[in-house]
Amino acid sequence: MKIQVLEKIKSIKNLNMLPVVVSKLLEVTSNPKSSVSDVSKVVSSDPTLTANILKIVNSPFYGFPRTITTINQALVILGFTDIRNIALSLTVFDKLKSSLLDVSEFWKHSLGVGIASKVIAEKLKYAKPEEAFICGLLHDIGKLILSEYFSDRFKLILKVVEMKPVYISQAEEAILEGINHAQIGSWVTEKWKLPPVITKTVALHHSPVIAGTVDELAGIVNHANNLCRLKKIGFSGDSLGPDFNEEVTEFLGLDEKAMEEIAVEIDKKIASAQIILNMAQKKA
Ligand SMILES: [Fe+2]
Ligand SMILES: [Fe+2]
Repeated sequence: MKIQVLEKIKSIKNLNMLPVVVSKLLEVTSNPKSSVSDVSKVVSSDPTLTANILKIVNSPFYGFPRTITTINQALVILGFTDIRNIALSLTVFDKLKSSLLDVSEFWKHSLGVGIASKVIAEKLKYAKPEEAFICGLLHDIGKLILSEYFSDRFKLILKVVEMKPVYISQAEEAILEGINHAQIGSWVTEKWKLPPVITKTVALHHSPVIAGTVDELAGIVNHANNLCRLKKIGFSGDSLGPDFNEEVTEFLGLDEKAMEEIAVEIDKKIASAQIILNMAQKKA
């Protein structure tokens, strides 16, 4: 079954590639020799992407005091990684739909976990909080793959979750013989040639402890996921409450005061992220 699921993912043509502009963007932003104008050229080759990036960078989510009118300016102010992540998010939102999950609630959960991961990463002074954002945003992407391309089995998985007090990943493992959405998400992000840190974190978001050691980024996303479950930010198929991992909680070492500050910051950011959710639903 494991091989079957993997083979099927490999054979899905529609999943094969990210749009050329995003692949090029990943390439050019990961090259330390690239200049602002190199990256700008790639983004500007796609007018829709350009317009959408400018809409997001000028939204209350970023809250810059003056209007950013060009991609060059956006790149200078926000940096390559932020712009790359916005482009990647827009593409993934656009590429994957779901008939079995409530898409709007799913993206709210995903965006919530992205934001919470970034807020936690900043609190912990993690070197690349943007990396935490994109990993949080994409963590449950495997569920969309299951919903779209393995819909009969995913229907069954949702039924099990509805009838029994189990988490969706447990139901997946029972029905897909050991496979869950974290592994599927990891395969797909690998196929898309996303940076290995994303592939790894997506794979580990439900099992962030390896050989007794917590993987820091996977621990952050795991904790953020539980926080969003606790705060009921969006919904991605799990009705059971949070499942905080003691080792992760201890590893992150966030005291009550830090957790309260994180919660306030998450609420603030989520409220201002509405434009991204609207774009995901094509209302913007
Ligand atoms: Fe998950
Ligand atoms: Fe999740």
